[in-house]
Amino acid sequence: MATHKLLLLPGDGIGPEVMREVEKLVSWFRARGIGFETETDLVGGSAYDAHKVSITEDAMKRAQAADAVLFGAVGGPKWDNVPYAVRPEAGLLRLRKDLGLFANLRPAICYPALADASSLKREVVEGLDIMIVRELTGGVYFGEPKELVTLEDGSQRAVDTQLYTTGEIERITRVAFDLAKKRRNKVSSAEKSNVMKTGVLWRQVVTKIHKAEFADVQLEHVLADNCAMQLVKNPKQFDVIVTDNLFGDILSDIAAMLTGSLGMLPSASLGAVDPVTGSRKALYEPVHGSAPDIAGKGLANPLAMIGSFGMALRYSFDLLNEADLLDKAIANVLASGTRTKDIAPSGTNAVGTQELGDAIVKELNALS
Ligand code: NAI
Ligand code: MG
Repeated sequence: MATHKLLLLPGDGIGPEVMREVEKLVSWFRARGIGFETETDLVGGSAYDAHKVSITEDAMKRAQAADAVLFGAVGGPKWDNVPYAVRPEAGLLRLRKDLGLFANLRPAICYPALADASSLKREVVEGLDIMIVRELTGGVYFGEPKELVTLEDGSQRAVDTQLYTTGEIERITRVAFDLAKKRRNKVSSAEKSNVMKTGVLWRQVVTKIHKAEFADVQLEHVLADNCAMQLVKNPKQFDVIVTDNLFGDILSDIAAMLTGSLGMLPSASLGAVDPVTGSRKALYEPVHGSAPDIAGKGLANPLAMIGSFGMALRYSFDLLNEADLLDKAIANVLASGTRTKDIAPSGTNAVGTQELGDAIVKELNALS
C-alpha cells in the first residue's frame, strides 16, 4: 500500500477545532485502505508559547519530509505583542518560503444550496466553479528596491518594485494549464500589459508556453481590471484564471466573496515538481484566520479546512475518486440543511463544528 505522509499543523484559535474534523476524515479514508500516515506539530502562537519560536527546526524538517502539510490557522490577540521575528504569521511565511510554494490555488465554488448567501443573484453564482492561480513568491510584494525614505525637505518617498522573470512566469503558467486540463480546459491570463512591462512579459511567456505545450487548451488574455469587473458580472465564463501576486491577491478575494462565507474557502499552495520523484511540496489551508471571536466555542465552520484536505486528495495524492466523493458528501450535507451558524439562514437552527464534521462522515458512509 502506498503511504501518504501528512503533517498536521493545527495552529491557534479555531485551527485545532477545524483540524479535528479533518482527522475524522483521515481515519475514515485510512479504514478504507488509503495509506495515510500523520504527524502533528505546533505552529504560530502555540509554538511560541512552547518554544519561543513560531515554528521549530524540527517541525520544518517534518514539513520538508511530508507529502503534504495541512495547516489550520495562526495568530490571535494573545500574541499581538510578541517580537516581530517570531510573530505567529512568521511560521506560515517560513513554510511558504522554505518549501518553495510559488503557486497559490484558490477555488471559488458556489454550492447550489448556498447560492442565496451570495450578495449576487442566484443565477449569476449558482454552480460556479472557478480556480484562481496566483503567483505567490514574486512580484511587487518582494521586488527590490523596496523602501520608504525621508527626503531633504522632510517629505517622504516610498518605492515598491514589481519584478518578474521568464522562469517565474513559466512555472506558474504550467500549473494553470495543467489544472485546466483536469477541469474545463480554459485558462484566462490576467495582467496589465497595456501599462506594465511585467504585464508585457507575462503575456509573451503565457502565449509561448501555450503554443509549445498546451495548444489544445483554450487561452484568453484579459486585463486585470476588466477581469475584476467580469468576475462580478458573469463569473461563470471563467475556468482557471492565472495571474501575478498582487492581482491574484485581489481577484481571489473578489471571487471568494461571490460564494458566501469565509468558513467555506479552501486553498492550496504548491511548489515545483521534483524531477526525480515527480512529487511536489504542498501546503493546504483554509483562507480564514484563527477567528478569536468564536474560538473555543465549537461554532467554527470546518468546511474550509475539510475542503483543503479535499484539495490535498486531488492535487497531492491523485485520489480523484476520493476527492469527488468528499465533494459530493459536502454538497449533500449542505443541501440537507445541516449548517454552521455562518452559513445558516437567520432564524434556522445551526449545528456546531463537530456535528457538521460528523454529518460529513455519515454522508460518506451513506455514499460508499
Ligand atoms: P478571521 O478569518 O480569523 O475572521 C474573520 C471573521 O470571520 C470573524 O468574524 C470570524 O469569526 C469569521 N470566521 C473565520 N473563519 C470562520 C469559520 N471557519 N467559521 C465561521 N466563522 C469564521 O480573520 P481576522 O479576524 O482578521 O483575524 C483573526 C486572527 O487570525 C488574527 O490574529 C490574524 O492575524 C489571523 N489570521 C491568520 C491567517 C492564517 O493563519 N493564514 C489568515 C488571516 C488571519
Ligand atoms: Mg488577501
